[in-house]
Amino acid sequence: MIRRKQPQVAVNLRIERLEKSRSGRSLCYIDENVMFDLGLSTGDIIEIKGRKRTTGIAVSSAADKGKGIIRLDLLQRLNAGATIGENISILKAEVYPAIEIQLTPTRPDIDLKRQADAIKNKLIDKPVVIGDIVDVYGTFVQREEGENPMSDLMKKFQLGSRKRATLGTLRLIVENLKPPDKVVKITRDTVIKVNKKVAALNHTGDVFTYNHIGGLSDEIQKIREIVELPLKYPELFHRLRVKPSQGIILYGIPGVGKTLLIKALTHEIKANFITINGPEIFSRYSGGTEGRLREIFREAEENAPSIIFIDKIDAIAPKRELLSEKVEQRVVAQLLTLMDGIQSRGDVIVIAETNRIEDIDEGLRRPGRFDHEIEIKPPDIDGRFEILKIHTRGKPLHKDVDLKLIAEKTQGFVGADLMALCKEAAMDSIRSVLPQIKLNEVHPDDALNTLIIKMEHFNSALECIKPAILRFS
Ligand SMILES: Nc1ncnc2c1ncn2[C@@H]1O[C@H](COP(=O)(O)OP(=O)(O)OP(=O)(O)O)[C@@H](O)[C@H]1O
Ligand SMILES: [Mg+2]
Repeated sequence: MIRRKQPQVAVNLRIERLEKSRSGRSLCYIDENVMFDLGLSTGDIIEIKGRKRTTGIAVSSAADKGKGIIRLDLLQRLNAGATIGENISILKAEVYPAIEIQLTPTRPDIDLKRQADAIKNKLIDKPVVIGDIVDVYGTFVQREEGENPMSDLMKKFQLGSRKRATLGTLRLIVENLKPPDKVVKITRDTVIKVNKKVAALNHTGDVFTYNHIGGLSDEIQKIREIVELPLKYPELFHRLRVKPSQGIILYGIPGVGKTLLIKALTHEIKANFITINGPEIFSRYSGGTEGRLREIFREAEENAPSIIFIDKIDAIAPKRELLSEKVEQRVVAQLLTLMDGIQSRGDVIVIAETNRIEDIDEGLRRPGRFDHEIEIKPPDIDGRFEILKIHTRGKPLHKDVDLKLIAEKTQGFVGADLMALCKEAAMDSIRSVLPQIKLNEVHPDDALNTLIIKMEHFNSALECIKPAILRFS
């Protein structure tokens, strides 16, 4: 077959929705004329540039001939950092075989150590670039037991942790590639490595990092010292005969960013990450709560370095005198024992979060257990300004929007309130162009281009969003 010489030019195309039945396979349906102009055939790999860079497999779409569009599924749109109606550019990619690919999972509860091969089989022939999110469909085993020489014996006495298969989508991030900076294709020879750390993604597909946290720089610094130092330099502690801290409680009113901080931490630290949800562990493992806690701590030690995150610890470890039920008292006692039993290597750290520090069992707050208590305070004016900048990042803002002034006016607002405020202002700007969008019209192009958030939208948002402090005091 004679192929046209491929010009290395980029072409701008408008994004349209790809139907569900064709989603999830990296396929990009492209206007047939554009395919021809770029010298592309169905099956060729293209590079896509929106706010982010990604890749995909071109498919010629006769139905879209002459429309100047490309159809992408939701994940591809996240990877391109662009949405329906926006423009992106594409060009034919130079593709290299992937020598090695390093993936970071986005769920803490799945053990991937021995599932790299299964993941690879599902990714063969897939084109990726660094930073892409990839979805793998299938069955995964949750927290399988490691190569423990005692495992047979433990099973006999029913001490072994249960294997739980889960069916679903596993979302991973391409953290690193060899060769880097290229569009690569995964082959049978590609070495797949799955990181221990876990990344949390926000709704636009970005990984939560410290850059997503406004204010709180002192708190971040403090937590990093406590958590990262012993993990990175255990010999320092050993040399000075100092036992590294093994427990931190973060406390503060709702919405100040406690969970956000932990999400960022999980990405920065190469550690195995296990979550315990305080209220949930009682209902899910009714009667078996203590056993489940023991299992989690054992797993953490076996797979160290590990971080155990206990969300809403007040639900599992309130002051014992407040408890009437024997069972609940036993759970608190179990947690104390487990904290004491953690080896002092500094590679298992428990981070707990609560709104009600004063209700937590005194025994747990003793040195050697949770020996750091860090208050996460509502942001001051500078913190609010930073948070507003974070939550307006990438949004079309009119030049009359004065974020400093909004920070001044939002005394008492916590991060979650400010996020709600930015969202409400955006909703208000949508409402202002809504009359121009006919709801049955497919391409609200003009409306999209005029969409911009103005100070007036923030002002009306300020009327309806009230700060948490007023709601909780
Ligand atoms: N300091 C901050 N910087 C940026 N965004 C923030 C900040 N604090 C809170 N937010 C926003 O508010 C959301 C909720 O915050 P988060 O879940 O971390 O609060 P929390 O302190 O854990 O509250 P709770 O006590 O209810 O668990 C975050 O996902 C984030 O979008
Ligand atoms: Mg929280």
